[in-house]
Amino acid sequence: MNKLSNFFDNWEELLNDKGRKPAIDFAYTSVFRMNNDFHRNAYRFYDMYKGHARMGKRSLTIRNVEEIRKYFVEESGIADIISRKVGVDFVLHPMKSETFLYNLTPDVKVQKNIDNWHYDYMPFVFVYMVEKDDNGSGKLILDLGKEKKEINLSVGEGIFMQGSMIRHLAQRCEKGKRTTLVLSFLPKDVTMVDNTHVTKGMCPYHEGENLHEQYLEYKRERIDRLSKMKNNLRDTIQRERSDIFKSWL
Ligand SMILES: [Fe+2]
Repeated sequence: MNKLSNFFDNWEELLNDKGRKPAIDFAYTSVFRMNNDFHRNAYRFYDMYKGHARMGKRSLTIRNVEEIRKYFVEESGIADIISRKVGVDFVLHPMKSETFLYNLTPDVKVQKNIDNWHYDYMPFVFVYMVEKDDNGSGKLILDLGKEKKEINLSVGEGIFMQGSMIRHLAQRCEKGKRTTLVLSFLPKDVTMVDNTHVTKGMCPYHEGENLHEQYLEYKRERIDRLSKMKNNLRDTIQRERSDIFKSWL
């Protein structure tokens, strides 16, 4: 496991392009291989739905398939695998459009924008190689301040990273096909910083996804949970005070 503090002296002061600070001192895991069952399902869903992939501004993606989302959330076991690896509990992102996406290979002519350096608008991501024809191109490059890290995933391998805090780019795929699966995560603990960044009108992949509405619902649910915790804490403090009071009687 590679921490942000391994690369950045003042990791807590690190800012991304949206002015956000890291949630935890974690950068990325080393590349790891998933089990056959996970791969079989990841490939099966891709194969089943590739005809439904849609072209966005800069990418060809499969998103918003409830059957696929359900598999990754309820059956795949991926959140547990990642939580164990990092030592922090993670859950798949509750925004329905953002739990998963498949990135297919668009025509070479429209691929140029994939080369852009960027920070993700989802806090943490798992990038997994579903299929790849050419092993020489299509690397993932991480900007770690003083150094750049090149990651060349093979089919069946993945990497987990704090994509909202590490600038990165996916190199163009020179020949053949490359299909990646991207799953978004956030820490299970609702009191930890949430670096999900969605603004009104944002529509990076598919038209008509209503990302902002999903975001508002997601944020309201977090605020509800935090409010309940606050009330519980207030009651607990009250009980402690009352214990002291009673001890004098
Ligand atoms: Fe990204």
